[in-house]
Amino acid sequence: MSGGRFAITAPRVVTCDPARARPGDALGVVEDGAILVEDGVIVAVGPRAEVLARLDSAGGGGGGGGGGEEKVRVFAAPGVITPGLVDAHTHAPWMGSRDAEYAVRLAGGDYEAIAAAGGGIVATMRAVRTASVEAIQATLAARLRRMAALGVTTVEAKSGYGLDEASERRQLDAVAEAGRDPSLPRVVPTYLALHAVPPEAAGDREAYARVVGERWLPAMAAAGLCRYVDAYVDRSAFSVAQARPVLEKARALGLGVRLHAGQFADVGAVEFAAELGAASADHLEVVGPAGIAAMGAAGVAAVLLPVASFTLRQAPPPVDALRAAGVPLVVASDANPGTAPTESLPLAMAFGARLYGLTVPEVILGATREAARTLGLAEVTGALRGGLQADLVAWDLPHENALIQPWGAPRTTAVVRGGTVLAG
Ligand code: NIG
Ligand code: FE
Repeated sequence: MSGGRFAITAPRVVTCDPARARPGDALGVVEDGAILVEDGVIVAVGPRAEVLARLDSAGGGGGGGGGGEEKVRVFAAPGVITPGLVDAHTHAPWMGSRDAEYAVRLAGGDYEAIAAAGGGIVATMRAVRTASVEAIQATLAARLRRMAALGVTTVEAKSGYGLDEASERRQLDAVAEAGRDPSLPRVVPTYLALHAVPPEAAGDREAYARVVGERWLPAMAAAGLCRYVDAYVDRSAFSVAQARPVLEKARALGLGVRLHAGQFADVGAVEFAAELGAASADHLEVVGPAGIAAMGAAGVAAVLLPVASFTLRQAPPPVDALRAAGVPLVVASDANPGTAPTESLPLAMAFGARLYGLTVPEVILGATREAARTLGLAEVTGALRGGLQADLVAWDLPHENALIQPWGAPRTTAVVRGGTVLAG
């Protein structure tokens, strides 16, 4: 599978195309289906006989007719095909390890207390500050390849561990470099502008946020290094008042906004996200009815991060209330060295079902179509339908329900981005 035309058949094609959804089949599954790909783009999806008939007709279904006798390769996948998975919340360009901190936490240490004492995010900051851009690039590329092997073809990637302009920029430069490599998953860069205060700020969050909003953010935006801006708004992080000028500036610069909101306390971050027209509010372990209603009204997606709440031994977010308010549900890995030490979106999906009570279709849509939508990629990826990029995964699994059973590591036989094989 690469450039040109090919078809792929499978016993179950899980399209995630709303036009194919039926009562009892939210995923729009085509049994004995096929997908026709031309130059990296999906040109047809449907029953195998129908799609393959297009290959026999003159010119083979539009596009490069001329040759007539051109041989189109047909690959037969053994099980389920889904859209390429989309991980809508990761801290992928991190460096180092927080295994020592984890040992402390296993022995009863508290995440927020460790951070307040200069560990946590600031410990990862030290690893990022001493790393060259080449080292960050190499670490990130290797991580993205491992994610691809797990079926992931699009990854949102946040900075937020540099905490000074040059180091944040090295993280975003590494993401940009990954973005130029078609052999890696597609990346969506997010400037995590307010994550923690570095030691040199001496605890002055206001002054730090002012520099971020007035100097660093415009510079990152001018360099085209981010599509989204994120802030960690919580009781031991930044307040709404501190974050407001930064995120309003982001909106004024034409950037999207996502928030770490309601992870530990309800400080109004979710209402603030709705007011800003944010693409998403992420975490949401602690959110009240007003916040949920505001999200529903403003169309802010809930990005659920079950690996983080599992790691921190937290109760799940109010999934029933979010669902009832019509909030789009996304499931993401939160891949980071502190709260979600995993690279596996399938693990987050498995936990989303087991710990949060999401249904299998919710989990799959939350890691494909809904994830793509919250990243502004609804017309690019996240479903199997004509016109989208040929981002797809052939799984060595008999049924899509099995995606969440081999805890975090379901086997892929081919992972394809834009018609090109990334893994398998
Ligand atoms: O999504 N809590 C804020 N940010 C990250 C964790 C960062 C870290 O501990 O390194 C999160 O949970
Ligand atoms: Fe996060």
